[in-house]
Amino acid sequence: MKITELAIPQQVKDLIIQSGVTELYPPQEEAVRAGALQGKNLVLASPTASGKTLVAELCCLKHVLEKGGKAVYLAPLKALANEKFDDFKKYAALKKADGNNIRIGISTGDYDSNDPWLENYDIVITTNEKADSLLRHRARWMDSVSLVVADEVHLLNDAERGPTLEVVLARLMQINPSIQVLALSATMGNVDEVARWLEAQFVTTEWRPVTLKEGVLLHDEIQFKDGEVKKIVRKTSNDSVNLVLNTVKTGGQALVFASTRRNAVALAKKIADHTAKELSKVAKKTLEKEAEKVRNTDERTKISDDLAELVQCGVAFHHAGLGGAHRRIIEDLFRTGRIKVLTATPTLAFGMNLPARVVIIQDYRRYEVGYGYYPISVLEYKQMAGRAGRPKYDKAGEAILIAKTADEADYLIDNFILARPERIWSRLAVEKIIRGHVLATVASGFANTEGGIYEFFGKTFYAHQYDVKGIKSVISKILKYLYEEQMFYLDGNNLFATPFGKRVSELYLDPVSGVVIRDALKCKPDCLTEFSMLHLIAHTPDMGPVMRPYGEEIDQMSVLLEEHRKEFFVLPPAEWEDRLGFEEFLGEVKTALILKAWIEESSEEELLEKYGVQPGDLYRIIENGKWLLHATHELATLLREKECLHLTAELVERVSKGIKRELLPIVKLESIGRVRGRKLYNSGYKTIDDLKQAKTEDLIALLGPVLARKVKEQIGGFVKKETWEQLNKGEEWKQKSLGDY
Ligand SMILES: Nc1ncnc2c1ncn2[C@@H]1O[C@H](COP(=O)(O)OP(=O)(O)OP(=O)(O)O)[C@@H](O)[C@H]1O
Ligand SMILES: [Mg+2]
Repeated sequence: MKITELAIPQQVKDLIIQSGVTELYPPQEEAVRAGALQGKNLVLASPTASGKTLVAELCCLKHVLEKGGKAVYLAPLKALANEKFDDFKKYAALKKADGNNIRIGISTGDYDSNDPWLENYDIVITTNEKADSLLRHRARWMDSVSLVVADEVHLLNDAERGPTLEVVLARLMQINPSIQVLALSATMGNVDEVARWLEAQFVTTEWRPVTLKEGVLLHDEIQFKDGEVKKIVRKTSNDSVNLVLNTVKTGGQALVFASTRRNAVALAKKIADHTAKELSKVAKKTLEKEAEKVRNTDERTKISDDLAELVQCGVAFHHAGLGGAHRRIIEDLFRTGRIKVLTATPTLAFGMNLPARVVIIQDYRRYEVGYGYYPISVLEYKQMAGRAGRPKYDKAGEAILIAKTADEADYLIDNFILARPERIWSRLAVEKIIRGHVLATVASGFANTEGGIYEFFGKTFYAHQYDVKGIKSVISKILKYLYEEQMFYLDGNNLFATPFGKRVSELYLDPVSGVVIRDALKCKPDCLTEFSMLHLIAHTPDMGPVMRPYGEEIDQMSVLLEEHRKEFFVLPPAEWEDRLGFEEFLGEVKTALILKAWIEESSEEELLEKYGVQPGDLYRIIENGKWLLHATHELATLLREKECLHLTAELVERVSKGIKRELLPIVKLESIGRVRGRKLYNSGYKTIDDLKQAKTEDLIALLGPVLARKVKEQIGGFVKKETWEQLNKGEEWKQKSLGDY
């Protein structure tokens, strides 16, 4: 089917054709035939890179341009939301019936806001969690959404992300019964069941833009699914390394999935030992420049130094311990072919557009504490394997599993390559997961009787799969808990949220976190300090899994625990009675100490060295810390706990910037973060007033001309053009994005 034949406005056709797409891929055609453009609900399940996004784009544009509607695009991760936003941006040039351009917005942060500005946007890209929080705030514009696109819907099966997704979809269908639902998914065992839940048609295809050849490597021989056998040269004793070297030698790129961060890094190093020798002089020069970029982005740590060294050899690793800026550099280097080999943890398999000619799945097993090794699911294997083959560049992609014995090779062929992806299952009926959703159902007025609550949960995927009886007992237990903790009250048969319950729900807190914070604020420790607050938030379930201390750290943390004993809101369990609880508590102490060191301006390298916390994890602790401190501040305001207000307000700022108290006045300026702020402070500029008095040339010496002007302009001291030109004589500089550094 040609783009010209589609029932979409001409301006959309022109733009798509201009971008180089003239014909629909077969799955896209099937989706259109199934009624996607006629407002029908649809589940489109097809392999990686089969063009599901374009179907979503067409539907969004149809709603906005022809029906005056509004579309929401749900992505499972912030990084994916950003990628989709970039994909959608090109449509901002199109005109709506009223003559205005289409407005495309993205909203992924700040869970305590209803973002009223989004009302003016036609297409809103967001994450499942942010959409959930917008619904809790009853953002008015949500009622006028006419299309919801749910990307990567097979993640309903994911214990962490799935429940929020199904609740968001059920709520959107509840508040807007005529909404069109478009669900995009990898191939899974029960597409029909998901479709029935969404009252949708479904399309499943195995079509891929590049042929995929799946196989198993045993020693020096790859056995492919179609019977073909290929020999590789064995240069080392490591089979993955050999396969990578063979790929690179023939001009291809390789993506290797390892099960842990440590394995990904170790493997990258092994590969680099060999690739370094093969690089041409020109390639070496280019890579050196790229490595310099890695070194000069964000703070320098052992991890970024390691990464830079690998990039110099044409290799890199990618995992959640890397900071966002580094991850983006690596993705870009790989996408543009400047680095040939990337080792990664499985998170990269989620929807990111990063194909390679050869994908190597090094470990088909995962390890979990207390559970041991278990094989990954076929669904996960297919997601990783599907990354193989770059459209337009490779004739075919190869996805290879590694076997050690002939027996294992047979096992892998039968259980992964020839196997069908599993059914997916709802993960909603877990008390810890569902309690926030039950509270939100009452607090945001989605239901106000017990029956109404069951009715709502009766519309979830869980109820569709198992029957609502399965969660009734969990919900009634939760209702009892919420009532006892005074999150709602009863008036006859009606349930109403208390101000406390409502605020906890809006703040997007787990009700248990709300209770922990409320109870703590009521009885303060002997000695109320910054550490008290940092530990309190680390003690809530919303901080996520704590960084458990290990080995010698246990003793160190025990000593520190004693030192801080008078500062705890919540006391530690007795070491000999509750060993596990005690160690968990030590983990909370460690998290609090990491945050404390961060606001004492420890460098990322020092934090890595001292606590083993990698930049990507540090970033998550900081993000959660900011949110939970904000929540604590809000609850303290509600409960009139004045003593904690100042402390929490200040900590929100300090944690978000990573600064000592003394830097607070000057980091208010845009582009002045912990590093530049410290530089200014140490040179005697301690307040905005000091900066007002500062001579422009002195500021230039400290910050460079671009920033110096930016600072001067923000504090009102505009710099005259002549002075400016004089000061810049002979200096080459460009206006660029400076970031808060
Ligand atoms: N009809 C088409 N003709 C040519 N290229 C296309 C067409 N449709 C989509 N593409 C290109 O195919 C690539 C992959 O598409 P997309 O990201 O939508 O895949 P996907 O199905 O969502 O895969 P995943 O499961 O990885 O999310 C994109 O670069 C897109 O521009
Ligand atoms: Mg996609």
